[in-house]
Amino acid sequence: MEFERPPTLRTGPSEGTDDAPATPVPAGGFGVNEAAELVADLLAATGLVPPDKLALVRGRVGQSGSIAQAAVGIERVRGILEIEMTIPERPGAREPGALQGSITFDHVAFGYDPSAPVLEDLSFSIEPGQSVGIVGATGSGKSTLVSLVPRLYDVTGGRVLLDGVDVRDYKLDELRERIAFVLQDTVLFRGTSRENIAYGRPDATMAEIVEAAKLANAHDFITRMPDGYDTAVGEKGLTLSGGQRQRIGIARALVRDARILILDEPTAALDAESERAVVEALERVKQGRTVITIAHRLSTIRKADAIVVLQDGRVAQKGTHEELLRCGGVYAELYRIQITATKSANTTKTRSLHVVPMVARAS
Ligand SMILES: Nc1ncnc2c1ncn2[C@@H]1O[C@H](COP(=O)(O)OP(=O)(O)OP(=O)(O)O)[C@@H](O)[C@H]1O
Ligand SMILES: [Mg+2]
Repeated sequence: MEFERPPTLRTGPSEGTDDAPATPVPAGGFGVNEAAELVADLLAATGLVPPDKLALVRGRVGQSGSIAQAAVGIERVRGILEIEMTIPERPGAREPGALQGSITFDHVAFGYDPSAPVLEDLSFSIEPGQSVGIVGATGSGKSTLVSLVPRLYDVTGGRVLLDGVDVRDYKLDELRERIAFVLQDTVLFRGTSRENIAYGRPDATMAEIVEAAKLANAHDFITRMPDGYDTAVGEKGLTLSGGQRQRIGIARALVRDARILILDEPTAALDAESERAVVEALERVKQGRTVITIAHRLSTIRKADAIVVLQDGRVAQKGTHEELLRCGGVYAELYRIQITATKSANTTKTRSLHVVPMVARAS
């Protein structure tokens, strides 16, 4: 959807992220980030929205490129809040207690619109502590599938089990408390690195914050900042790269010490080098957690204990990277395409490096 910028807006310096376009700021100085903050602050004051949803709210509004688009962001926020309200809690719902972390999708069916199923008769299990990668074409239902675990939506058929218990039998808040999400782009709030990591758990101790940052491969770059953990980042602060923001996002998820960690395309916005740093962090955070990682880039999930390939809302293949390559099929084909694309990109780069000095000599 395209929007025309209202005439009162001028384009101010980019204060958000280094790779995001400059944020338009209205003449009065109340920009889209301020609007996002205000919406989130107002919602926080109501006490009705849990912290993880507030993060989503700030993100959805803040990602919009202009005030006009912020209106769309606010519409989305309303969508999130409506989701909150339509998920009922069963009478006698129980506390999840200390979870082992097994997840089972048992003949799951789901459609946003009942006449257009997105997931159909989908079954597979994840053992406690296992790391599972989910791949599949765009629109194949990956994000939808993981949203059923914290009950952002409820299945229309089958069941999602957590430690053998239907997720609908758990208390909703408690269930969500045990699941941490990292999305494609981590939104930083106005504040220090320390505050940004502790966002999901304001009572976290400094030792816990540092431990999470170390696991997330963020400690080193944070300590190199002028004031270390007390350096202001994000809006009005030091600008972080996409890879650094993602590592803050992972640390933020870790500090909550959730048994289940879900990452939806955590490396999609990163270059190959930043991806390596994030993948290295993911390898470390796997310990003692059940981790689901959705990725288009197969290099992000090739070390997963199991990889599930979704196709048209069903499980097309499941196995390790090596098994799936050996048996051929959708995954092997995806891999072949990605390897070919990477090689041709590298060749182009090498060629252009040769061309530059020759042109220089000729002049
Ligand atoms: N909130 C929603 N309301 C209605 N339809 C939706 C909604 N979210 C997703 N869909 C539809 O459900 C299908 C699966 O979408 P989903 O986002 O789960 O795919 P995905 O595999 O995560 O894709 P991508 O790789 O692009 O992220 C698509 O047809 C999509 O248009
Ligand atoms: Mg998706």
